[in-house]
Amino acid sequence: MEYFKLPKNTARLIVLQRIELTSPFLRKLRKLFGRYVFSSFITKYFLNPSYIGKEYYRVMLKEFLSIEQFINQNDKSFLSIGAGVGGLEIIINNTFKNNNYYFIERNFISKKVRYGWGGMVNSEGYNNLELQKDFLITNEMSESQINIFDYDKDTLPEKKFDVIISLLSLDYHYDFNLYSEYLKKISKDDTKIIFDTIRADYFKKIFKNVNIIRSDTNVIHKSKRILCSHFLN
Ligand SMILES: C[S@@+](CC[C@H](N)C(=O)[O-])C[C@H]1O[C@@H](n2cnc3c(N)ncnc32)[C@H](O)[C@@H]1O
Repeated sequence: MEYFKLPKNTARLIVLQRIELTSPFLRKLRKLFGRYVFSSFITKYFLNPSYIGKEYYRVMLKEFLSIEQFINQNDKSFLSIGAGVGGLEIIINNTFKNNNYYFIERNFISKKVRYGWGGMVNSEGYNNLELQKDFLITNEMSESQINIFDYDKDTLPEKKFDVIISLLSLDYHYDFNLYSEYLKKISKDDTKIIFDTIRADYFKKIFKNVNIIRSDTNVIHKSKRILCSHFLN
């Protein structure tokens, strides 16, 4: 597999989740007309789904390579918080077979897409859970592996996970503390919790183990990707 298959509506979602995937021309249009016009109209007429399918695969493969060494065959149960449509999970599944994937996401697209820090006020969403499920199945994840939960409506899964992943979502767009009590319930001491943050040191008070696995100096946020385990209390 070298690209993801996706219809136009899914391509529209993906560029809201990952703005860097649009062409320089479209990014210029976004600057010119603003985010609302961009997400409502421009993405409707000017997106090339096969280009987005290739670019999204390329970027997700890069993300996968940043975490691959920390995952192994014994990890069977994955939770992703704010996975977008789930390209990274497809690549994980292609590499380490037979996993179960749980997704907590949101089932709406914010009118005004904001890419900043919302703290405990977490009102942004850029997903459509039906399109997400179709995307996962179209790209070779089997239906029995997929469990999708709507953050705003569903009771969240209460089981112990081996790996919890949240790229550019938890503690990047909204406060970790929104999920901290829940994460304590669903993790074992050796559950690997991977997410992006600009305050890596803060987590030394929360977890016994905190490792910086990637530093991103090119993005506005200057975030770090951290791998944590073992809640201290
Ligand atoms: C910037 S996108 C990143 C998507 C994906 N992780 C990636 O790296 O391409 C942030 C995602 O978090 C989701 N999100 C926002 N608030 C959330 C919440 N409280 N729980 C779960 N997901 C959330 C959004 O719908 C969106 O898909």
